[in-house]
Amino acid sequence: MESGFSGKTALVTGGTSGIGESICRLFARQGAGVFVHYNKNKEKADKLAEEIKGFSVQADVSNEKDVKKMREEVLRKAGGLDFLVNNAGDIDWIESYKQVTELMWDRVVDANLKGTFLVTKEFAGDLSKASGAVVNLGSTAHFESKFPALHYNASKAGVASLTKSFSRQLAPKVRVNSVAPGFIKTNFEEKYSKEKIKQILDGIPLARFGEPDDVGKVVLELCSSKFGYVTGQTIIVDGGRITP
Ligand SMILES: NC(=O)c1ccc[n+]([C@@H]2O[C@H](COP(=O)([O-])OP(=O)(O)OC[C@H]3O[C@@H](n4cnc5c(N)ncnc54)[C@H](OP(=O)(O)O)[C@@H]3O)[C@@H](O)[C@H]2O)c1
Repeated sequence: MESGFSGKTALVTGGTSGIGESICRLFARQGAGVFVHYNKNKEKADKLAEEIKGFSVQADVSNEKDVKKMREEVLRKAGGLDFLVNNAGDIDWIESYKQVTELMWDRVVDANLKGTFLVTKEFAGDLSKASGAVVNLGSTAHFESKFPALHYNASKAGVASLTKSFSRQLAPKVRVNSVAPGFIKTNFEEKYSKEKIKQILDGIPLARFGEPDDVGKVVLELCSSKFGYVTGQTIIVDGGRITP
């Protein structure tokens, strides 16, 4: 086992699937103690936590009471926190703004934007004590605005803005960066036709969709001291598809 993060503690929100699961496994492989956060998927969180010898922890990240409870549990079990990865997120696969209801807006924006704010606010003091790092999951969606779910795009633009604001307000103790993935092999392939998939792939210079680990590895690098002079930045991980 590598030991780059030995003795450190990481909390990964939305850690049960896709990119979040990859980040949890990569942290554990580097020797960190990992809190696998979930909202509804307790079974998967418990199983992954057991496998990587970490802990599972529950919260709806858009609910302040839940987030405070989660912090108490993390502190009770680990005593502090070194790394926070705000990965939990929601999305709607729609074609037009006309389909976005108020409920959909609130669910997606609350999970992605309010959740990132509440969790960072709650753990900021603990991260300061540890000279830790925060990494937020953004998206290329807000840079290019082609993705029809404009409430999702807006929420991720907000995440980029929170990244910059928190990076100033938590400096010099805590670095805050974000990673903006493009098309990562999680579940989006089920949502598009074969023709659409080919069309997207043709637009990726590195000629493949990303793997969750492609994103996870960048998240871990941003947490490491190698990136000790980098804060407030958004790193795009999309195989070169967009050039904002
Ligand atoms: N996959 C991509 O291609 C891609 C591209 C760009 C950006 N991203 C971003 O990268 C992150 C991970 O994406 P993914 O595709 O790997 O995600 P995913 O597999 O869909 O997982 C999302 C996670 O977020 C959690 N979640 C959703 N709403 C929540 C809430 N209100 N409170 C707490 N947890 C909540 C879910 O927890 P439960 O299952 O326990 O309910 C789930 O574990 C997201 O922020 C996403 O927007 C992904």
